[in-house]
Amino acid sequence: MTVKDYLDTNDFSKDELLAMIDLSRALKSCVKAGYFPPLLKNKTLGMIFQQVSTRTRISFEGAMADLGGTAQFYAPGTIQLGGHETIEDSARVMGRLLDIIMARVDRHTDLAEFAKYAQVPVLNGMSDYNHPTQELGDLLTMIEHKPEGKRIEDCKMVFVGDATQVCVSEMFICSKMGMNFVHYGPEGHQIPDNLLEVGRKNCQISGGSVAVTDDRAALEGADFVYTDVWYGLYDAELSQEERMAIFYPTYQVTPELMEVAGPNAKFMHCLPASRGEEVVDEVIDGPNSICWDEAENRKHSIRGLLAYFCPFAHEEPGAAEARELLSDVLTRLGKQPTA
Ligand code: CP
Repeated sequence: MTVKDYLDTNDFSKDELLAMIDLSRALKSCVKAGYFPPLLKNKTLGMIFQQVSTRTRISFEGAMADLGGTAQFYAPGTIQLGGHETIEDSARVMGRLLDIIMARVDRHTDLAEFAKYAQVPVLNGMSDYNHPTQELGDLLTMIEHKPEGKRIEDCKMVFVGDATQVCVSEMFICSKMGMNFVHYGPEGHQIPDNLLEVGRKNCQISGGSVAVTDDRAALEGADFVYTDVWYGLYDAELSQEERMAIFYPTYQVTPELMEVAGPNAKFMHCLPASRGEEVVDEVIDGPNSICWDEAENRKHSIRGLLAYFCPFAHEEPGAAEARELLSDVLTRLGKQPTA
């Protein structure tokens, strides 16, 4: 492994991403069977959040505990990060105090700057550019739920609605895997060409395809129909009136829209959902919805990511000497030396 940080799945080959999935699946089997391998014993994860989170926070904290480590949660506004202290200085210090760091940030450029100066692995818990831990969990979910006998490379995802960072991320992971990806959304809210270009480059290697369209027929034959909120991105957040005017009713995922995709199409959503906006209850609560498995897989895949990126605990060559020094000091203090 040459890349220290997990900031963007485009930094990794298809085989490397599938190795992360293999590790996630093996650890999922262990945990489901009641075996919690202490791979990250004595390791500490720092969790920086500049925005609120349910799934990502719970998954990282729980996954770290499952592997025998500990996690520290820094709520929005509770640590120095780019205020009085520079991002560079914060990263250098946190890299000395922690073994691995995850960060959910407002600006991807800040995350890249932070990772550059932190000496330990940094994992992207979502930025204004992408959401790569969501990508890995979604890949795991698609592999588990793809049609019997069909290769993941032959599957098709149609993302419906706004070109959020999750939409862009789904385009990244599908194109990496060699899948067919379509963004079905209104003009002005489709994935921009500079980002589609990243997907097209992935497809040159993987054999997949990426497209954007406002033609509903693109849904036909989709194995996975995915949607996300219609809030717009940070720089252009939309009011409820604006988003309903732009997306409703054409881009709302309804039973009628799912029918165009076909009876076997599975419904996915990164959550949280705005029920009644981008999706209706009959779909999200319906038999083809896999978004609850998808939410659970956040933790299973993040466990795999932590084990993949965090160096395992081991004793350095000076450990015996350090143990002896401690034992001497404790003896002098009249305290029982530790074993
Ligand atoms: N999907 C997702 O990232 O959820 P949270 O914002 O709750 O972490």
